[in-house]
Amino acid sequence: MIVRRIFSGIQPTGLVHLGNYFGAVKQWKTFIDDDSRAKPIFSIVDLHAITLPQNPAELRNGVESMAASLIACGIDPAKCILFRQSDVGEHTSLSWVLGCLATLPRLSQLPQFKEKSEKIRDVPLGLYVYPVLQSADILLYKATDVPVGEDNLQNVYFAQHMARVFNHRFGTEFFPRIKSIVLEDGSARIRSLRNPEKKMSKSDPDPKSRISIIDSEDEVVEKCRKAVTDFTSEVYYDLEKRPGVSNLILLHSLSAGITVDEAVQSAQGLDTGKYKLHVAEAVNEHLKPIRETYSALMNDRHHLREVLSEGAQNARSLASETWQAVRSIAGL
Ligand code: ADP
Ligand code: NA
Repeated sequence: MIVRRIFSGIQPTGLVHLGNYFGAVKQWKTFIDDDSRAKPIFSIVDLHAITLPQNPAELRNGVESMAASLIACGIDPAKCILFRQSDVGEHTSLSWVLGCLATLPRLSQLPQFKEKSEKIRDVPLGLYVYPVLQSADILLYKATDVPVGEDNLQNVYFAQHMARVFNHRFGTEFFPRIKSIVLEDGSARIRSLRNPEKKMSKSDPDPKSRISIIDSEDEVVEKCRKAVTDFTSEVYYDLEKRPGVSNLILLHSLSAGITVDEAVQSAQGLDTGKYKLHVAEAVNEHLKPIRETYSALMNDRHHLREVLSEGAQNARSLASETWQAVRSIAGL
């Protein structure tokens, strides 16, 4: 019988924003509280971060900051395997084997590469082959369930393809079938506060376009106050025609744990200007305990490093088992 297991990764570049939080991390929390599967595995994927140039000190700090953020958001390291990708060397080992089975035409079809490489003149090889590493991330733990955003779905299909190619090449059923779990689709997507046509994103050059989970109360108020809406003062939900106001309603409902209808009800008699303050209050209330836990964790780096080291040990014991079997299958 196949053990069902979740694997997901997050890059240690930038702070977790409300899009990442409501679109991914908060839902990961429901997976760790569900014992119908094996312990979920969450990796802070620093090897993926260096496909674009990174400052070493910032990257190192980013890994610890991401670990603190995830734990503060409820990803209890006792109930999952939380680790830094580069702590487990088998990711790159398996990536090589899969890379020898992947073809350039198949890789070149993946949409994210086109997008990311457009602005770069001398494209690094790592940026081109990172879907192979992502396949290795998943297959190394024989993960069966992979939560992703819609824009990453093609990379999961690619990992499914790699599993099939490996199994077929060596006449085995070694890697299980992978199923994606789409967390973020059009309706669950949090929009940029400055341009509600776009999604809230770490890579947006305008920091006022996103709220990070550790922004101060004043920053949250300021960003909500300046959120781009439209010229209608009434508060109602219409994602197509009024993406700015609808985004605020969505943030309000998710932060307060109420439905969109209830959020709109509570805005009766408020104009959008006043409603923005109402939304900021709900967001701040939701983030208060997260901020506090985050700063306590960041003030105890020794403990954070211990948590990551324990996570790495647990990940390594699963990873090395798969890797030894792969070596034996492939004759290495
Ligand atoms: P970013 O786009 O900020 O770089 P990532 O690509 O690192 O974020 O995504 C990490 C996770 O957060 C993914 O599961 C992705 O689907 C989710 N996510 C990112 N942005 C949003 C958003 N604006 N709304 C909902 N979910 C999001
Ligand atoms: Na992204």
